[in-house]
Amino acid sequence: MATKTRLAIPSNTREHARVIGEAVDEAWHNNFGGSRIEVPLGVVAGLALVGRADPDGPDPAELAMNLDPDGFAALLLELWSRFAILRPDLLPRVKPLWKWLEDDRDEHRLKAAQAVGHAALRKGLLELTGVEWRRHDADLLGMLLQILRSKSARNGLGQFLTPVDVTDMIGEMSRVGDLGDTEGAEEAATLSEAMLAPDAKPGSRILDPCAGTGTMLLGAARSMRRRGVDPAVSEWWANDIDWAAAACCAVNMHLWGMGPRVIVGCGDGLLLDWMDEALKSRQAAIDEVTGLWEMARKFALVRELLGLPLPKSPLMRHLADAEARMPKPPPPPASHTFDAEAAYSQGRLF
Ligand SMILES: C[S@@+](CC[C@H](N)C(=O)[O-])C[C@H]1O[C@@H](n2cnc3c(N)ncnc32)[C@H](O)[C@@H]1O
Repeated sequence: MATKTRLAIPSNTREHARVIGEAVDEAWHNNFGGSRIEVPLGVVAGLALVGRADPDGPDPAELAMNLDPDGFAALLLELWSRFAILRPDLLPRVKPLWKWLEDDRDEHRLKAAQAVGHAALRKGLLELTGVEWRRHDADLLGMLLQILRSKSARNGLGQFLTPVDVTDMIGEMSRVGDLGDTEGAEEAATLSEAMLAPDAKPGSRILDPCAGTGTMLLGAARSMRRRGVDPAVSEWWANDIDWAAAACCAVNMHLWGMGPRVIVGCGDGLLLDWMDEALKSRQAAIDEVTGLWEMARKFALVRELLGLPLPKSPLMRHLADAEARMPKPPPPPASHTFDAEAAYSQGRLF
């Protein structure tokens, strides 16, 4: 059994994210992980979905650290499968973060992935992502992406996180407002336009066409929360030209509790095509998962009728129990743009 070797948790969430990011980077490179940064990003993002629903229950970090490499891969696949069911709308963007798990099983890569998972858990990943206010406060994936990317690659795309003081100030200034319905891409507002509006109302629309991992949007959400407004009442449009940033942004929008009306595109933010493409791929993913869900429901019914037991490890049982205990938040107000949200439920995975 792995022992509790986790260290003191920094009280500052940004510092905590940095500590985790550096430990992950070190574990990845010490294990000769190579250039496929979707692997460490996918491990950390996947484990960030676990949460810590029950302080008296088994410690999911300990359970995860005691798995062998195949068990660890199975855990990640399970976490991403659950994410797919819960957030099919975000699937097109997050695909690179789990697709490698389905590729040819490479023992060396899996070992490096497991080392990354252990490093993140030892540095208190679940203490950051499993506590709601801390999870809503930090851009862990943005920090990790910035650390993993070589300096030259970052310079090329201008990928530097906006300091938290600046995003908070912009959030305070923005007082994001109701910008009306979007019938087409042209009508969507930019974040700078949103700054001019007086107050956040249900249905307000907030957009960042070069969002990176969404740091600026997090600033707006934090500002809304400080004023007692739930960010989930708004529509959030994010885009980045870089697949890794867009993928992390999509997971972030879920981790930060931005609600079900989230569009994350991956294209040139100087053009408007990304908006149409993002809406279409989002709808296609929702339709596909809804179909699969129907099929799975039928299979489950057959299993039940035949009295076949569902095999479950203690970790899977913990995840399923914690999921069942999560209260379901109320549905958001009606929207013309988002007509498929009934296909999934709002809220956290576990
Ligand atoms: C400095 S970061 C800003 C990220 C975020 N808005 C923030 O404040 O933290 C700039 C981002 O713009 C992205 N980017 C650069 N050119 C772009 C383009 N033409 N379309 C969309 N995104 C672009 C980069 O990939 C990078 O993630």
